[in-house]
Formats: sequence, structure tokens, C-alpha cells
Amino acid sequence: MDDRDVAKYWDENAPDWIKGVQAGYDVYRDYVNNPAFFGMLPDIAGLRVLDVGCGEGQSTRRAADLGATVVGIDISKEMIEAARRHERDRPRSIEYHTVSGNDMSMFADESFDAAISAMAMMDMADYAGCVREIIRVLKGGGFFQFSILHPCTTTPVRRLLRDKQGRITAIAVSNYFGLQPTLPEQEIEEWFFSSAPPEVKAAARPFRVPRFYRTLGEYFNTLAEAGFVIERLCEPYASEEAAKKCPAVADTRIAPYFLIFRGKKPASD
Ligand SMILES: C[S@@+](CC[C@H](N)C(=O)[O-])C[C@H]1O[C@@H](n2cnc3c(N)ncnc32)[C@H](O)[C@@H]1O
Repeated sequence: MDDRDVAKYWDENAPDWIKGVQAGYDVYRDYVNNPAFFGMLPDIAGLRVLDVGCGEGQSTRRAADLGATVVGIDISKEMIEAARRHERDRPRSIEYHTVSGNDMSMFADESFDAAISAMAMMDMADYAGCVREIIRVLKGGGFFQFSILHPCTTTPVRRLLRDKQGRITAIAVSNYFGLQPTLPEQEIEEWFFSSAPPEVKAAARPFRVPRFYRTLGEYFNTLAEAGFVIERLCEPYASEEAAKKCPAVADTRIAPYFLIFRGKKPASD
């Protein structure tokens, strides 16, 4: 599976993905990830920020609204076209490009103050290549903050255990280290927003997402080997209030679903 295949899957996912995100069906984003991600983001007002794997640009726009000059990149041209439509409707001086995070030769070394990425680094075929490119384009002292599915609970074999009422009570995981062969159905995950109304789910084509299983150690060590100093890790979960308001996200309180890293490129002497 290479970048070309990944782009094809995300181009196909784009129409329903965009509609679902805009309709608010991505409740984990709205109630768990966004509050944690933007809550721990340093002040970016006045900074030049790169959004890697920006999709249709929700986080890109939010970063621009926080006062940054933002450039969004994504490998899917359908996602980038949707992001550009938003920019035409309500300009925020955001620039978008259809390129892969592992080949950003269009950007000079040390041309960004910060980089962000929301739930995309786990979807990249060449994570290490992307990390090397991101540190290259960052200025010394700049940071990279990104969220991913938590690698310890997003494993090739994974079962949700439920009580009699159907509530999720535990997650069983296996083949974390990838020591057993990964089956074809584990390489392309099919899913749809679980909180979408039944009629929307019935009419939608499930997303087909190429999965690249990596251990926590691989995520961390790749950042360290590229030269990042890890500043902060966050395993977000729904607050009691959020879980009451949106019971669908209460399961994030039993085990970590997501992980946010922030690393800093050391300042050059
Ligand atoms: C789960 S979506 C997240 C999109 C967006 N950040 C958001 O929060 O809605 C993952 C995105 O990663 C993009 N992607 C996958 N591999 C990529 C790569 N090598 N370079 C840039 N983007 C990539 C996909 O096209 C897709 O838009």
C-alpha cells in the first residue's frame, strides 16, 4: 500500500466524510479530540503553521481563526478541493496543496513556526518519512502537535465487550506487535460515524480506510530519531459533562482511544 493507493481510498471516502463531519456526526472529534487538541495547543497567533493531512480543513480553519497564517496539505485532491471551497466561501488566507506529507519539497527548510495534524498521521503509509519532512520544514524552536488513534487500542485484532444494555465495558486487543500476519480485512477498515442517524448510516457507503498498525514505541522513537524533543502527551477522554450530553462518547472513559503528541525541534545555535 503506497501513497497513491491511500489517496484513492481517501478520494472515495471524501464525499460522505465531508457531509458527516459538517453534520456533526463525528462526535468523538467534537466532544473529545477537539477540546483536548486545541486546549493543549500553544498560542499560534501570528505564526506560520502547517496542517499535515488537513482533509477538508476543519482544524486548518480553526487554526486560522486563532490568528495563524495556515497552509494545509493533504494527499487527497477531493479533500483539498472541499477545503478550497470553504476558503472561497469564507476567505481566511489559507493556502491548500495536494501533496504527501513525506514529500513537501515545495516548502523550503525552516519555513514554518509550527505544524499540526489532526487524526491523520496514523493514516500515512510512510510515517517516518512524514516526520522527517515536518522537522525539515520547521524552524528551530518550532513545535509539531498531532493526534492519532491510540496505537495500544487500535490493533489488528480488536473487540468491544458490552454489558447486557449494550454499553461498551472493555476493549480486547491482540496482535499489537504485528507478530501474526495481518489479514486483508484488517488492512482496510470499514466503518462509518456511529452517531449518524440510522437512515444516514443505511444510505452511506462505509469509509474504507487503509490501516498502518504501529506500536507506541514506533511513534515515539521515530519522533526522537528525527530530532524532536517530546514535550507533552495527552490521552483525551470525555469529561463527565460531555459524556452526559453525548452518551456515545462515554466509552472514551474506559480505555484510551486517542493520543496527542507534541514535540519541539530544538532551537539552532
Ligand atoms: C482521518 S482523515 C483526517 C483529516 C483532517 N485532519 C480532519 O481532522 O478531518 C486523514 C487524512 O489524512 C490524509 N492523508 C493520508 N496519507 C497522507 C499523506 N501521506 N500525506 C498527506 N495527507 C495524507 C487523508 O487523505 C485524509 O484526508
